[in-house]
Order: sequence, then C-alpha cells, then structure tokens
Amino acid sequence: MRFVLLAALGLTCALPALAADLPPKPARLGLCAACHGETGMAQIPAAPNLAGQRLDYLRSALKDYRDGTRNVPLMRTAIGPLSDAELDQLARWYSAQTPQPQAAAHP
Ligand code: HEC
Repeated sequence: MRFVLLAALGLTCALPALAADLPPKPARLGLCAACHGETGMAQIPAAPNLAGQRLDYLRSALKDYRDGTRNVPLMRTAIGPLSDAELDQLARWYSAQTPQPQAAAHP
C-alpha cells in the first residue's frame, strides 16, 4: 500500500515536469487540431498522425504546402498565409508530442 501511494505521488510530481518540457501551445493550433488532434493523433480517417514526427520534416512539409510545392488543396487552405514563425511553432508543438496507441485504427 505504501508503495502504491509513493508511486502515485511520484507520478503526480513527474507529470507537470513533463508538461513543462513542451513548447508553448501555438495560437493557431485550434484549426489543425480539428483534423490532426491537439496532440498530433489524427481525428479524421484521412489525416496523418503528427505526434513525434521529426521537426525538420514537419517544418519542410508545412512550407511545401504553403508555397504549393506539395499541392494538396485541403492542407493549403488549412495553412493559409501562416508566417514562418507560426509554422515553426506548430512543427515544434507536434514534434514534441508523444505518439499514443490508437484504438481500432485499422478500418
Ligand atoms: C481539414 C483537415 C485538416 C486540417 C484543418 C489540417 N490538416 Fe494537415 N493534413 C490533412 C491531410 C488530409 C493531410 C495529408 C495530405 C497529403 O496527402 O499530403 C495533412 C497533412 C499534414 C502534414 C504532412 C504530414 C506528413 O506526414 O507528410 C502536416 C505537417 C500537417 N498536415 C500539419 C497541419 C497543421 C500544422 C495544420 C494547422 C495549420 C493542419 N495540418 C490542418 C488534413 C488537415
């Protein structure tokens, strides 16, 4: 019993510390979250998970959508005219997330 209590205490102390390592939540996250989830686990079938993806990959993917190199109208519309700083914040946010196991993700 004492062990369980200690473990629980340890966990409650560790969680805020983990959260503190995350970059600040980007102001533009709300829109992205509708499809990719706030923590990068996709909310709609066709959207990719972004949690834990490499930062440099996310950054260049977002720039490619913005300038049309990657011509996917859905993502181009979603990104709109976001600044480099905003793209960078979003890439950092999603890259810092831990991928979660997904329930019934194989239709
Ligand atoms: C309406 C749903 C929707 C919204 C809103 C949306 N996305 Fe996407 N996103 C998608 C889909 C679908 C794809 C896959 C597109 C493709 O085939 O390239 C994608 C692809 C991506 C990729 C590339 C992933 C990879 O593995 O190559 C990134 C990064 C991304 N989205 C980030 C964002 C960010 C950041 C936002 C908010 C500004 C956002 N998305 C908003 C649906 C959405």
